[in-house]
Amino acid sequence: MKKIVVLTGAGMSAESGINTFRDAGGLWEQHRVQDVATPEGWHRNPQLVLDFYNERRKQLLAAKPNAGHIALAELEKQYDIRIITQNVDNLHEQAGSSHIIHLHGELMKVRSSGPGEEVFKLTPDNYETHLGDKCPKGYQLRPHIVWFGEAVPEIEQAIGLVNIADILVIIGTSMQVYPAAGLINYAKPGIPIYLIDPQDVNVPTKNILVIKKRASEGMKELKEILDCPAT
Ligand code: APR
Repeated sequence: MKKIVVLTGAGMSAESGINTFRDAGGLWEQHRVQDVATPEGWHRNPQLVLDFYNERRKQLLAAKPNAGHIALAELEKQYDIRIITQNVDNLHEQAGSSHIIHLHGELMKVRSSGPGEEVFKLTPDNYETHLGDKCPKGYQLRPHIVWFGEAVPEIEQAIGLVNIADILVIIGTSMQVYPAAGLINYAKPGIPIYLIDPQDVNVPTKNILVIKKRASEGMKELKEILDCPAT
């Protein structure tokens, strides 16, 4: 089976009603990154950070996978699909995809802010975290999110997957945040690279086939290409 590695970003979930970060009206227009997505912001005002992620979980609980997520899950019938997502939502899981790496963490999980960093799952009827919510060892619970300036524990595994991919697909990311945006550089020379995005995306590599569409439409076109590759 051909190995297809798919790097997804916030645009993958846009049609599910989840805000992207850098589009007009995106999350970084509504909030200061340094206040809600950095360790410094957490130490300065943990309640503001907890409120930000409680609000994003509330939005996620009202969202459903879109046709793009579903099409990606269905491709598993024909290809060895590995998803590397920058998204912290669980819509790829909900759509039925089975191999997913969350480079930037997971919204529906929290972890101890103590040395053990134990991870705990939240549920739809218990999705909020507040100051004073502590792990069994007495440490404040924090979002299980990789904030700017923090290590990306899964990046080595992600590089290993891109390195052996037969095809690389990039969907719904502005390719501005590293190390995720640098994964493209680990693709074997000459493999087909497809990029699905309704906007122009600045990518250093030239040999990319751009499908300038939203994820749901772009996935239809990608499936046609994969099923009948040009001879
Ligand atoms: N279908 C496909 N792509 C879309 C759609 C859509 N319906 N709508 C928007 N897009 C594209 C935008 O054109 C843009 O290129 O999705 C991309 C979203 O870019 P960003 O908002 O920068 O999101 P992302 O690239 O995922 O951000 C990466 O930055 O703030 C951090 O940790 C955060 O994981 C995030 C990282």
